[in-house]
Amino acid sequence: MVRLIGILVGIFFSGWLLVTLAVGFFTWVSEPKVETAEHVFHEHPKELNLASDGVFGHFDTQQLQRGYKVYKEVCSACHSLRHVAFRDLEQLGYSEAQVKAEAAMWQVPGIDPVTGEATTRPGLPTDYFPKPYANDVAARAANNNAIPPDLSLMAKARHDGAAYVYSLLTGYQEQPADLLEEFPEAKTPDGLHYNPYFANLNLAMAQPLIDAQVDFDDGAPNDLDSMSQDVAAFLVWTAEPTLAKRHQTGWPVVIFLIILTVLSYLAYRNVWRNEKH
Ligand code: HEC
Repeated sequence: MVRLIGILVGIFFSGWLLVTLAVGFFTWVSEPKVETAEHVFHEHPKELNLASDGVFGHFDTQQLQRGYKVYKEVCSACHSLRHVAFRDLEQLGYSEAQVKAEAAMWQVPGIDPVTGEATTRPGLPTDYFPKPYANDVAARAANNNAIPPDLSLMAKARHDGAAYVYSLLTGYQEQPADLLEEFPEAKTPDGLHYNPYFANLNLAMAQPLIDAQVDFDDGAPNDLDSMSQDVAAFLVWTAEPTLAKRHQTGWPVVIFLIILTVLSYLAYRNVWRNEKH
């Protein structure tokens, strides 16, 4: 009896599974495939090679310094970098005194020692990078209703982060004529900007960086392409400042494990040497 009930229950569930599979398959086949402008015109990030790539990757501190300068002179007008403190800049090769001077060039929120009112004061190395807007309402009001996201973890938050940032900065263009022909309703709305690397093709950030906008002390090229690579490299660092250290500790651990494996094997052979396998 129990066996019979078991069989019936089994048949019921397998039947159920078959029915759902069949229904799923037919809806998949019969549903018309709607193509949208995003499907057809969205592009994957361009290739970008950075010194920090791969298991032997390390940071190119000259490039990070240039990327920091681009952030400071251009992106910081709209984007915060809230997980980074000024003292972290020592990792980019700046001395303690340089970091102190650098921090003092930024205004951070403070309190008036006499009246207790909110005010601003020059930054200290222990301060974090200040937010460009007082709050989200102010950020939206200044940016066509979009909030410029914090950039500290951007290189991790987006797929292929560094290459994405690089592609986005260099990807602004006129909306292609064939896009408008195929999808007339997908015309870039007023106040937005066409960029095929952005998921829905139109974003509220106007092209922020152009050729020769920033000058570098090391005489490195300052065309749009190079500067976009520099700021992308900088954002890899802000997202994972300990990357180089992780790579450095990783290798001794791997070598240690290999030696340990060999030793264990030899010990095993030694212990069982008089036994027939
Ligand atoms: C004038 C203000 C402004 C400046 C300057 C600016 N941005 Fe933006 N940025 C925005 C706004 C607004 C958004 C949100 C766009 C949206 O969601 O449509 C944004 C979005 C982004 C995004 C996220 C895109 C996504 O996938 O969500 C990245 C990355 C970015 N900016 C990088 C930069 C970098 C790097 C710089 C400096 C070279 C910079 N931005 C300068 C306003 C600005």
